[in-house]
Formats: sequence, C-alpha cells, structure tokens
Amino acid sequence: MEKKLSLLLDEIKKSLEKAINVKEIDDIWISIFGQSGVFTRIIKEIQNIPKEKRPEAGKLTNQVKYNLEELFIKKRQDFSHKELENGIDVTIPGNIPKKGHLHIVTQAIFEITNIFEKIGFTKVSYPEIEWEHYAFEALNMPKDHPARDDFETFFINQPAEPKFGKMVLTPHTSSGQVREMLKVGKPPIRMINIGKCYRPNWDISHTPMFYQFEGLVIDEGINITHLKGTMDYFAKEFFGPERKTRLRPFHFQFTEPSFEVDITCGVCLGKGTLEDGKKCRICKEGWLELGGSGMVHPNVLHSGNIDSNKYTGFAFGWGIERTYMMKSGTKLDDIRLLYGNDIRFLEQF
Ligand code: PHE
Repeated sequence: MEKKLSLLLDEIKKSLEKAINVKEIDDIWISIFGQSGVFTRIIKEIQNIPKEKRPEAGKLTNQVKYNLEELFIKKRQDFSHKELENGIDVTIPGNIPKKGHLHIVTQAIFEITNIFEKIGFTKVSYPEIEWEHYAFEALNMPKDHPARDDFETFFINQPAEPKFGKMVLTPHTSSGQVREMLKVGKPPIRMINIGKCYRPNWDISHTPMFYQFEGLVIDEGINITHLKGTMDYFAKEFFGPERKTRLRPFHFQFTEPSFEVDITCGVCLGKGTLEDGKKCRICKEGWLELGGSGMVHPNVLHSGNIDSNKYTGFAFGWGIERTYMMKSGTKLDDIRLLYGNDIRFLEQF
C-alpha cells in the first residue's frame, strides 16, 4: 500500500508539472479523486487489508490525500492568477444573481387589472400629488364638509391655488373620476384606476401609503344591477366561484345611493359558524367588508361636464392590500408586513 501510494504521488507530481492550464489541472484532479479515480480505488482497497493494519493504512492515505490537495490548490492558484493576468479565467464560477419575483401587491395589481380588462375596462392612473379640487370639491365635498374628515389627508405646504385649492397626497383613487370624465369627454367610460393613496394612519390594518383600485362606468341606462353584476363577476374571478357579494347601504358624498360591498367569508363560507358550531372569528356573521361603491352622484357628473339627464354611472373604490388579504389561504395578520421589505416574508408568495 505504502509503495503504491508513493508511486502514485510521483506520477501525479509529474503530470501536474506537465499541465499547462487550470482545465488540465482539474482533469487530473478528477482522474485521481473522481468516482472511478485512482485514489478513490485505493481507498476502497483498504477494506481488504487485514483488520489490524487498517488504521495505519487509513492514516497514511489521509496524509497523502492532504498533501495532494495542498499541491493541487497551490498549482491551481498559480495558473488561475496567470490566466487572470492574461485575460480571463474561464474556470472561475460566475456570480449567479439571486432570483426574485414581483412583490405581492404588484401581483395583485396585475391580476385585478386583468380581471377588469376582460370585461372592457381601460386601465388608467392619475397623479399621486393631487389638487384638493379633484380629491374633494369635484366629488361633492365642499370645503368644511364634515365628510372630508373621513379622508384624513396629507397637505403639501404651499399656498392654495384659487380654483384648485391646496395640493394634497391623494387620499383616494376617486380623485381620478372627474379627471377621467374630463379626459374622455363623452361617455361611455369604463375605467379602472389603480394608484397609491396616502392617509396618516399606522396600525395592523393601515399603512400611510396604500393602493386602491377604482372602477368607474358611465353610459346611458347604467343602473344598480350593473354595479351588482360587476361586483359578483370580480368576486368570483378574484376569490373563487363559490363566493357571493351583497350591497349594504352606506354613505359617501360622491355616490347616491351608496353601498359597502360585502363578500361571503372564505373560512366559514358565509355561514358565520364553523363545523363544530363555534362562531367564525374571521367575519361578521358570514360576511367580510370589501369596500365602498355606489351610483355616481349627479353633482360629480356635472363636475366632469357630463349631462346627468342623459347619463348615469356607478363607481367603486377598494384597497388592494385589504382585498388581497381576504383572498382565502392568505393569512396575513398585519398589513404592515407587506411594506417591511423582509425577504423572509416576501419570499413565501
Ligand atoms: N373613495 C372611497 C374610499 O376611499 C371609496 C369609494 C369609491 C366609494 C367609489 C364609493 C365610490 O373609501
């Protein structure tokens, strides 16, 4: 064994001397330590040596292996430095960039856009920094109207403009409604406006920046059944065919009548109780609140230069994060996680 190893060592040294580049060194390495390499075979032979001589043989082979490794590393480094000086070392493994994926909110935006585009809506986006006029006045919320308090707002520190008022960080995507009417000019309008909104809140269900998607449909003869049908279509596409929606009377200044849209709970499937008879902890009696909607108020149509005797419309505006969190199977108990940029959290989706 000893003899075999020292012969092998000589032989390897000789062939290493002949090697002219990193690739050849690597080939020699494989011929020695690879699956059917010389050294690998020698190690296997240890089993056939009488038991009492095995530890000695083991020690020896380890020593030789160690020496060989040193030799190889040194030789390989010399070559790769030389090759680097001459240009490139094609044998150095490249830096493989980490693979990422789109943020879940972006995924939700794509999915929601796609659902509405299928039924003829056009995706638009409007300014994040907005005039008070489009965010409030044009939406039937004159100055000092108490309903404005519902949309706590960040103001830009700058003097008011005579017609448009102050600049704000838009508190809802509804500010795109009148902008869209003025842009399109004449109905029909079928817009889906997706954008960032800002309100000064920070808790488990609020971040100061969040996304909303706003639908607006205006045409001759549009009525509540069109609103209800659109809500049902969206709920089934986004949440699944077993989900149902309902309209619950509510109040918004810019819609009349106004509704909150509810959807059947994905956990108790609208029953309000679980199989063991216990009350469902996720929902209120089988229903979850999605967001606001209603028939466009005639004053809002007037702001957009649309004849309210000829045309009617409906609108809805919901938070994307909230809507996404309601999708069954998504167990997110703190909305702020979405924007914490913790890769360990984001990687799961
Ligand atoms: N803009 C309202 C909000 O942010 C939602 C809404 C949009 C209500 C459209 C009715 C119609 O809460």
